[in-house]
Amino acid sequence: MGAVQVRGEVLARRRAGAYHLLEVVAPGVAEAARPGQFVALRVGGPLSGLLLRRAFAIYRATPARSYAGTVQFVVGVHGTGTEWLAGVRQGEQLDVVGPLGRPFPLPTAAVGCVLVGGGYGSASLFGLAEALRARDCRVDMVLGAATADRVFGEQEAKRTAASVTVTTEDGSSGVQGLVSDVLPDVVERTGALAVYACGPMPMLRTVSEVAASFAIPCHVAVEEEMACGIGVCMTCVLPVIGEDGVTRMTRSCVDGPVFLADRVRWDDLGTVPADALGATDPGATDPDTAGLGAAGLGAAGLDTAGLGAGGPGAAGLGAAGLDTAELGAAGLGAAGLGAGGLGAAGLGVVSAGSAAAGAAGPAGGEQ
Ligand SMILES: Cc1cc2nc3c(=O)[nH]c(=O)nc-3n(C[C@H](O)[C@H](O)[C@H](O)COP(=O)(O)OP(=O)(O)OC[C@H]3O[C@@H](n4cnc5c(N)ncnc54)[C@H](O)[C@@H]3O)c2cc1C
Ligand code: FES
Repeated sequence: MGAVQVRGEVLARRRAGAYHLLEVVAPGVAEAARPGQFVALRVGGPLSGLLLRRAFAIYRATPARSYAGTVQFVVGVHGTGTEWLAGVRQGEQLDVVGPLGRPFPLPTAAVGCVLVGGGYGSASLFGLAEALRARDCRVDMVLGAATADRVFGEQEAKRTAASVTVTTEDGSSGVQGLVSDVLPDVVERTGALAVYACGPMPMLRTVSEVAASFAIPCHVAVEEEMACGIGVCMTCVLPVIGEDGVTRMTRSCVDGPVFLADRVRWDDLGTVPADALGATDPGATDPDTAGLGAAGLGAAGLDTAGLGAGGPGAAGLGAAGLDTAELGAAGLGAAGLGAGGLGAAGLGVVSAGSAAAGAAGPAGGEQ
């Protein structure tokens, strides 16, 4: 089953430390969701000028039983859209598109796995933990954040995982430091053969380095800025090395957000590497120049852009800030679709490019 667009009632909401946890009735989304996927929410209410949907990892998906299926997600207030979401009340309606993106691949054998979450990034790991345990995999968790109130899900992790290690940068809970400081010990102690991680990009990078030092696979769910969430606008591209060894500027919304960590060119994030397939200007590592290149590809059409170096010109859309992004989206039309009610065609693209591809994708074959 692919992505659907539904309007559903907010069934429950509560604070979880620094975050807001929302449960929304979302039939069709809940049934299709797999760990690592996300939803794109319309924000701001019916009269809002906020055109772009906001992406949130699915924390829990409860398929329909006697009641309609629901999804839960965790909101950290960042800007206008998340602030609005934090104020949404029980009984109000939310417009949800999902599930989007490729899920975490699961190992075929019962291997030990360490799940590493940073801040609200931990939310997407609990469904994964369940799926791994259903395959008899040992699950250990490392949860980190800047401060204790930003560590998400510690109590639930204690119920779920064989061991939980918490780190905070200010030492207000657990070990003072970063998740990557304690990860080597956890991997060594547990004999884990795979790492999964979700959190800020710098964290994913260091987690990836630790996993590489143990020569074990690491799957990361990245969080690139996204305007449309359905593969149309190229806002979310990052340089990823394909199975053929060729780097492509890859859309994290439909080809991710989960990637094998050693395929991501961490040093080149925010640039279009000169050797990326379709890079129009081999010297375009300067963000301004790269942005121009991306704009050109955008104009050339989605197919070209999909294969080529869309580049952080896409980032131009998001990085330029909310106002620019929202206005830019209106002009692009494609991103406008993302905000204002997706047509069946748009969702068709999503279902073909993400969930279906994910099902046939790297799952199982890598570990
Ligand atoms: C796959 C994915 C999963 C995510 N999961 C969660 C989650 O579980 N909980 C949570 O609180 N947040 C999550 N985020 C980040 C969340 O989408 C942003 O915080 C949110 O879009 C910011 O919107 P805003 O209006 O509050 O901020 P503004 O800065 O006003 O947002 C304006 C635009 O900038 C972009 N943007 C700004 N910051 C980010 C960011 N950090 N990541 C991506 N886009 C950004 C968006 O396109 C947004 O439309 C996720 C992002 C992605 C891509
Ligand atoms: S957000 Fe990925 S292509 Fe638009």
